[in-house]
Amino acid sequence: MIKVPDIIIAVDGWSSTGKSTFAKFVAKRFGFLYLDSGAMYRGVTLLAMEKGLISPEGIDEDGLRKELEAGYDLHFERPDDGATQLFSGSRNIEKEIRTMEVSSYVSPISAVAFVRSWVDERLHAFSANGRVVMDGRDIGTTVFPDAELKIFMTASADVRAKRRYDELILKGTPATMEEVVANLKERDYIDSHRATSPLRRADDAFELDNSEMTLHEELVWIQGLIQGKFGILD
Ligand code: DC
Repeated sequence: MIKVPDIIIAVDGWSSTGKSTFAKFVAKRFGFLYLDSGAMYRGVTLLAMEKGLISPEGIDEDGLRKELEAGYDLHFERPDDGATQLFSGSRNIEKEIRTMEVSSYVSPISAVAFVRSWVDERLHAFSANGRVVMDGRDIGTTVFPDAELKIFMTASADVRAKRRYDELILKGTPATMEEVVANLKERDYIDSHRATSPLRRADDAFELDNSEMTLHEELVWIQGLIQGKFGILD
């Protein structure tokens, strides 16, 4: 394994392109901290749902702002042997934030400007010690525009839908393929069209289309990239 310098690796891309699987794997292999920024937006969405701040009329933004300002304690904890898990206070919410219901509300919640700055502030604090792999939609463009290495992930629409569907079924979350495709399309649209930090590839990001790649091939790809960029030999 190559010796990776103390850098921040930003991994952005479309939903269900395997960002978190890739980022987690890279973090584990390089001994970096993995941070899932999407989990933070999901955590805020869960709060909004539990407080009854989402209705057919829309999001009660004032109510949500008050809840966040009251000191919502959303943070990551990392067991010695595993990946980071999201906690609300002392409650592990890693499973609850992955339901279809949360997925269906998370894009509109993450389009709210004060939610984004609230999350960004925390992402910076969690990354203060460096050696971080963070995945999301705007890490290389907004959260860490100076990240030393930026990856932008894509995959074909069919591959993405199949991955998401398999993931939900594996977790025992009921879903149909039609629902999954509709949710992916809707999230793509909202994420790339919102006014505040929309999803886009940073000019200096390296694109990774992993439709036909194994995780191992992805690791070999990023190692080659790091060796070339930072002049590291085997
Ligand atoms: O990566 P994910 O599917 O868990 O992300 C959930 C939602 O959060 C996604 O639809 C868009 C939003 N998000 C964002 O706006 N900015 C980020 N940096 C990460 C996620």
